[in-house]
Amino acid sequence: MAKAVKNKLAQPFLKWAGGKRQLLPEIRKYIPKKFNTYYEPFIGAGAVLFDLQPKKAVINDINKELVIVYSVIKNNVDELIEDLKKHENNSDYFYAIRDLDRKPEYKQLSEVERASRVIYLNKTCYNGLFRVNSQGQFNVPFGKYKNPQIVNEIVLRAVHNYFNLNDVPIYNKDFSEVVNHAKKGDFVYFDPPYDPVSDTSSFTGYSLDGFNKDDQLRLRDLCVDLDKKGCKFLLSNSATDFIKEIYKEKGFHIKIVSASRSINSVASKRGKIDEMLVMNYEPNSN
Ligand SMILES: C[S@@+](CC[C@H](N)C(=O)[O-])C[C@H]1O[C@@H](n2cnc3c(N)ncnc32)[C@H](O)[C@@H]1O
Repeated sequence: MAKAVKNKLAQPFLKWAGGKRQLLPEIRKYIPKKFNTYYEPFIGAGAVLFDLQPKKAVINDINKELVIVYSVIKNNVDELIEDLKKHENNSDYFYAIRDLDRKPEYKQLSEVERASRVIYLNKTCYNGLFRVNSQGQFNVPFGKYKNPQIVNEIVLRAVHNYFNLNDVPIYNKDFSEVVNHAKKGDFVYFDPPYDPVSDTSSFTGYSLDGFNKDDQLRLRDLCVDLDKKGCKFLLSNSATDFIKEIYKEKGFHIKIVSASRSINSVASKRGKIDEMLVMNYEPNSN
């Protein structure tokens, strides 16, 4: 694998549902030692991308606001940092910014202003998640944090440098459309929205389109295609019977790992749930 000199400051700068920081030690064990282009079609906050920092990567997410944030960091980081400095950490200001996407003038905001809004809301909203209602409007309340780090200039500049010193196009499409060009020798890491462990634990606030069982099957079929093309893939998901079954029946390798998750805002419900890693290569021969 062609690897850039890794800059530890280039790291996730958003708190994102399903963030993979805690699972990284497990994931690292199964990353192939060699590959050409790296693909990450469900990028979220990018914990695995920034851990690897490959020289050639293709990243994607269906969440348009998130993709705007990455594009602005890549192309316009100075203006973004200036814009972030204007924000205030108080309830009236928070709700004025939050509710912009309920108003017609939202369409007039520049991409820098939109990216700045998402970062600001992520740092100051309750529990720091990105959640929208059925109309696509951000609906997390004010977090009342004393001193949130709204402008993390060092990290934003490090991410900007990683994007610009390497070849990292960023897309806003369905996952199935971005790996079309993957070739033999490429490696894809999939971190889709998890199959819900139970109905009450289901978290479907990523974007307007929830990710259902048909999508999980579509993804599984894509893995079969990639395998046939000679690409390697690694996928994380919750260890539900459904997910285990659909990958086992195709003969892929499965590793069950347990990790603590912090999606649940009720501390007592933050337990350990089993997660699984699926790959199309021998877990120890990577
Ligand atoms: C589990 S999160 C990824 C978390 C990420 N690995 C991290 O460390 O933060 C799943 C991501 O998939 C995105 N997503 C949902 N449906 C999608 C689709 N059909 N195609 C591409 N991305 C999708 C969501 O917007 C979300 O950012």
